[in-house]
Amino acid sequence: MLLGRDLADRVVAITGASSGIGAATAVACARRGMRVGLFARREVRLEKLAKEIREQGGEVETVVGDVRDRDAVAGLVTAVTRRWGSLDAIIANAGFGIVAPVATTPPEQAREIFDVNVLGTVWAIQAAWPVFEVQRQGHIIIVSSVLAQHGLPANSLYSATKAAQSVMADGLRVEAETVGIDVSVVYPVGTDTEFFESIRKSPDRERKLGSALPSGPRQTADQVAHAIVDCLERPRFEVYPYRAARLVPWADALSPKLIAKMLRFPEYYRRQMGIEGETGTKPEGEA
Ligand SMILES: NC(=O)c1ccc[n+]([C@@H]2O[C@H](COP(=O)([O-])OP(=O)(O)OC[C@H]3O[C@@H](n4cnc5c(N)ncnc54)[C@H](OP(=O)(O)O)[C@@H]3O)[C@@H](O)[C@H]2O)c1
Repeated sequence: MLLGRDLADRVVAITGASSGIGAATAVACARRGMRVGLFARREVRLEKLAKEIREQGGEVETVVGDVRDRDAVAGLVTAVTRRWGSLDAIIANAGFGIVAPVATTPPEQAREIFDVNVLGTVWAIQAAWPVFEVQRQGHIIIVSSVLAQHGLPANSLYSATKAAQSVMADGLRVEAETVGIDVSVVYPVGTDTEFFESIRKSPDRERKLGSALPSGPRQTADQVAHAIVDCLERPRFEVYPYRAARLVPWADALSPKLIAKMLRFPEYYRRQMGIEGETGTKPEGEA
């Protein structure tokens, strides 16, 4: 078996590190001796996490900012390279979800989700790229979602942002390998984090349903973090922290209708939106 990379003293920068998968990954990386740069908007949460990492003997730097602000993301890379002299990996993880039909998603939310999930990823890549290019090595890890593989009703815009990350990575991978940079995309399934609390809900859905959570396979943030650390050690293009999820693209390629049928999408959608009765039922009197 090939030995993995030695992670000790390597430098990793993580966006969306104040909670969930990002925070768990920061802790897991620090435990392996990596130096970690943390980025998110909630300063108190970042400082609390940084304190925990320092108390365990880890080295950490925090930068408060919004991934929609390209200069702020560049500031993360500047801060870690100034402190440690290099950057070995960037993890574009910051993101959030929306539960609403495309047709009635408020325009400001539609814009925000692409700004954060897609452009926030682009800004992270662009910030790290010049450093990686000079070093002729580096690792870009993008936290997408299994929903990139097949859009979920009531989550269509979220799925679209995750698919955008994934498809962007197909081309990026080739652009990157010419300068010695690795690219990986992580496809978690439903993960127990604050993601479901911070979800922007359709005004209709909130009125009718409250905060019912989607069903399906679940995993912990630590399990996703473990898969990411493993990928830092042994880079590969696709990472499925929940193994069975790697069957989704295969099933989709075999029959695009299969997953929709298996997961009973119309019922799922009605449940999510609090719609009673059948969707698509024909008007009375029609055969
Ligand atoms: N949980 C799931 O079921 C699941 C499944 C598949 C994929 N994912 C993906 O995993 C990633 C992490 O999500 P999570 O589950 O760990 O959720 P989470 O606990 O809500 O964490 C989201 C992180 O993103 C940060 N963030 C959000 N908007 C930001 C912005 N504008 N600027 C900077 N940071 C921002 C948040 O920090 P601040 O609020 O402090 O800025 C937080 O640290 C996301 O990309 C998500 O799409 C999650």
